[in-house]
Amino acid sequence: MVTKIVEKAINEQIRKEEHSSRIYLSMASWSQVNGFQGAAEWLYAQADEERMHELKLIHYLNDRGGNAHLADLEKPATKFKSLLDVFQQVLKHEEYISVSINKVYAVSIKQNDYSTGNFLQWYITEQTEEESTVRAILDQIRLAGEEKGGLFHMDKELAAQAARKRASQLAAATPNAGN
Ligand code: FEO
Repeated sequence: MVTKIVEKAINEQIRKEEHSSRIYLSMASWSQVNGFQGAAEWLYAQADEERMHELKLIHYLNDRGGNAHLADLEKPATKFKSLLDVFQQVLKHEEYISVSINKVYAVSIKQNDYSTGNFLQWYITEQTEEESTVRAILDQIRLAGEEKGGLFHMDKELAAQAARKRASQLAAATPNAGN
């Protein structure tokens, strides 16, 4: 059983993960119509990943005797200055989510809810990986600069990353695949 305090903290995180998904969906749409097909695929896949993060929290909370709620969400941005701007905002958002996950973890430990703390470890590791991936993407976009060839190459690289992301999402959704 989770306490009301832990339930509230997890519900707030559910809202943030759902919002993350919508933010990336909006960025994906912008990328698609602005000629960055690889970035769009990466962001569409990331939007699905955030929804998976949300679902995982919903199931966990309900399984522990809490009650997961969905909340109102603010409209995501629809216009961006450049691909660099998009990924700068992705990094800023992921940093914000990392801080948020750490807060939920702190709340659970304060409530002596070590099961929730243990469950949240997966998110803590995931956030470290996501921040690091986005920093590397940003480095490459900065290196490419405004040069068309560089950005074209970067977009191809993002398409390859998106394909790997999709493959791992499929593997996660298909337990025992390959056995
Ligand atoms: Fe689920 Fe990238 O935060």
